[in-house]
Amino acid sequence: MIFVRTCNLIFRKFYIGALSIWEELFPKFVSITTNTAQGKTSSATTSEINDFLDQKTNKGNNNSLSFTLKVWRQKNTEEKGQISSYEAVDVSPDMSFLEMLDVVNEKIELDGTQPIAFDSDCREGICGSCSLVINGQPHGPGGGVTTCQLYMRSFEDKSTITIEPWRAKAFPLVRDLCVDRSAFDRIIEAGGYVSVNTGSAPDANSMLISQDTAEEAMDAAACIGCGACVASCKNASAMLFVSAKVKHLNTLPQGQPERKRRTISMLEAMEKEGFGNCTNEYECEAVCPKNISVEHISFLNRDFLKSKI
Ligand code: SF4
Ligand code: FES
Repeated sequence: MIFVRTCNLIFRKFYIGALSIWEELFPKFVSITTNTAQGKTSSATTSEINDFLDQKTNKGNNNSLSFTLKVWRQKNTEEKGQISSYEAVDVSPDMSFLEMLDVVNEKIELDGTQPIAFDSDCREGICGSCSLVINGQPHGPGGGVTTCQLYMRSFEDKSTITIEPWRAKAFPLVRDLCVDRSAFDRIIEAGGYVSVNTGSAPDANSMLISQDTAEEAMDAAACIGCGACVASCKNASAMLFVSAKVKHLNTLPQGQPERKRRTISMLEAMEKEGFGNCTNEYECEAVCPKNISVEHISFLNRDFLKSKI
């Protein structure tokens, strides 16, 4: 992957350099035919191509931002990590945080250094993989957004931004900013399912569920399993995550057969994975990108007590 991207960059630089020389020698012949949205053709000179690339990095724009990044670098769990500094220049205010890291990584790669490893997938706030602690706060200063939905206009120009991985015993570090969050998968395996035969999609209203219940279940189902709640908690507790998963299924009719078993198994799995317990700090709710409420934890505690009777 790194090799392909490096080749791509080298090729692009070589191509533009060669095109500039050609344009100097034969200005009339230089034109690159491109398809426009209307299906017509138009020509682009090297300077237009350079403008396009500059636009991508916001170079020369008056509203360009620049930052000093202090990034946690660590080869693997065994080796010691340290903070390294990088300059992020010509950053567009409309770049997402991950796009800014992509641009910084392109420069790092050209210098022959290992790029900064970080996780991402959907880049639209759905998958929960973009787990970064930015300036001490999981998912940064946005509030109610994931790192991939955070824009660079949220940061002061020429400021220093510190970027670290989730820190919790149950999330061992893989490399730089990537951690292993498979502990969450094992908690889900312990009870995050229903055993009823769901078959094909049922007719609308064949199973009546009140609007309130449906909304409560949907609110809990919004959890994307990012782990910010764990990263923010001084106990590294996963109670907000577990409560959201338990409440989602325990409130719906389809989730009733395993209700008691689910609650006990998921809490036992949480403990086994090394997550701490809840001491009502409320940090989890404050950083949750999906605004999952700590009220779900009360629901979980009540269901746990009932399950033990
Ligand atoms: S409860 Fe919120 S912070 Fe915790 S895993 Fe789910 S979405 Fe992420
Ligand atoms: S990359 Fe999927 S939520 Fe951020």
